[in-house]
Amino acid sequence: MAATTMEQLVSLCKRRGFIFQNADIYGGQQGVYDYGPLGVELKNNLKAAWWRAMVYERDDVEGLDAAILTNRKVLKYSGHEDTFSDPMVDCKKCKGRFRADHIKDGKCPNCGASDLTEPRPFNLMFKTQVGPVESAENIGYLRPETAQAIFTQFKNVVDSTSRKLPFGIAQIGKSFRNEITPRNFIFRVREFEQAELEYFVFPGDDEKWHEIWKNERINWWLEQGLSMENIHIYTTPSDDLAHYAKACYDIEYRFPHGMEELEGIANRRDYDLGNHTKAQEEFELEAHCHQNPDSTTKLCIRDDESGKWIVPFVIEPSMGIDRGVLALLTEAYTEEDLGDGNSRVVLKLKKHLAPIKVAIIPLKKNSEEIMAKCHELKNKLMKLGIGRVQLENTGNIGKAYRRHDEVGTPLCLTVDFETIENKPETVTIRDRDTMEQIRVSTDELPAYLREYFL
Ligand code: GAP
Repeated sequence: MAATTMEQLVSLCKRRGFIFQNADIYGGQQGVYDYGPLGVELKNNLKAAWWRAMVYERDDVEGLDAAILTNRKVLKYSGHEDTFSDPMVDCKKCKGRFRADHIKDGKCPNCGASDLTEPRPFNLMFKTQVGPVESAENIGYLRPETAQAIFTQFKNVVDSTSRKLPFGIAQIGKSFRNEITPRNFIFRVREFEQAELEYFVFPGDDEKWHEIWKNERINWWLEQGLSMENIHIYTTPSDDLAHYAKACYDIEYRFPHGMEELEGIANRRDYDLGNHTKAQEEFELEAHCHQNPDSTTKLCIRDDESGKWIVPFVIEPSMGIDRGVLALLTEAYTEEDLGDGNSRVVLKLKKHLAPIKVAIIPLKKNSEEIMAKCHELKNKLMKLGIGRVQLENTGNIGKAYRRHDEVGTPLCLTVDFETIENKPETVTIRDRDTMEQIRVSTDELPAYLREYFL
């Protein structure tokens, strides 16, 4: 089967309402995308799957939903003000600005000129002013990662839940980076969502937990439908690690534009908790932090056995939701030859991720009886809690099947004259992948669908 191209995905996403360019009517805003009617469902389903696996199915993780607007001191002591930058070069001819590591053979990727500036650091954070007065004290940032609030709220979470090590705090939310060269559709954007877990462990147990989380996360991606042949684990060389990290694995995925990072799993040591901790003499800290004269708090936990205060190490699986959506679309997009001179596009998403679970299709739109039965079924089935059930009354039945194949709807349910005339009433159920059809009585439908989806 031919590899999925980015053009195929971009076209499908626009045509069927998954993803649109932001500010499209004004020519678009670079590196910013909006999720349409089906995109928002897919994204929500992916986030729900992550939250279920990370929080509901475990007994050692709490959730958090912190603010995006971030106090300057948080990002000063996290190291982001000083170090969160990419080296960039300017082209003196076309005035384009590019990441230094994206330059090949010393030539401008836009116009091909060799007249480039030396690389200079460019801070990726979006700076803003909090409150009406413009001053150094009122500088704030849109967070560049969700993680920092997990660290700064560490004590509040521990105090309110009485957690002991090891345990984690999970969060899903928007992050912002002023990427120099946003590219590859939703792969590298300026506004994106992250799902991050900060898993706190005893120092010394960190390497063991790093391996455990690497394996957990690979298995989770396989459960979402990615195949192992499209996944690669990259171990970041020590001279290329982020400023906070002791070690890092990247789960890379074979995107249409190449094998690239989908999720990072970093060992952040005690760097962040240590740096946000009030400097105190009686308190032993590893050497991974500096004095903090601004913090009011010790971000640490008491070890029951030794009675000592410990700054935990942290293992951080951090995934990009948008990159997750792109990986799922890449993997699921399939063009099938039907053998009769026709072909179809099928989005073979796992059923828990499919934006629409069931499409109810009337055989004849202008039959009042059939339409009334469709509405009755829609009202009944939407209460099952299986996700979105849609009444599809555009086009003919063949077109409706094609449309739902393309957007990944696992089941199409057709109401025809037999449904009305036969007792017991029956409908046909068509399976997206096999295209096989069966007849099921409407009385048995709720149990059938619950069994299928839940
Ligand atoms: N808290 C750790 C952290 O933020 P990161 O490797 O910079 O680490 C984690 O980001 C994940 O966030 C990446 O693996 C990627 O999936 C996603 N991500 C980062 N920058 C992104 C961007 N500009 N556009 C889309 N996703 C991005």
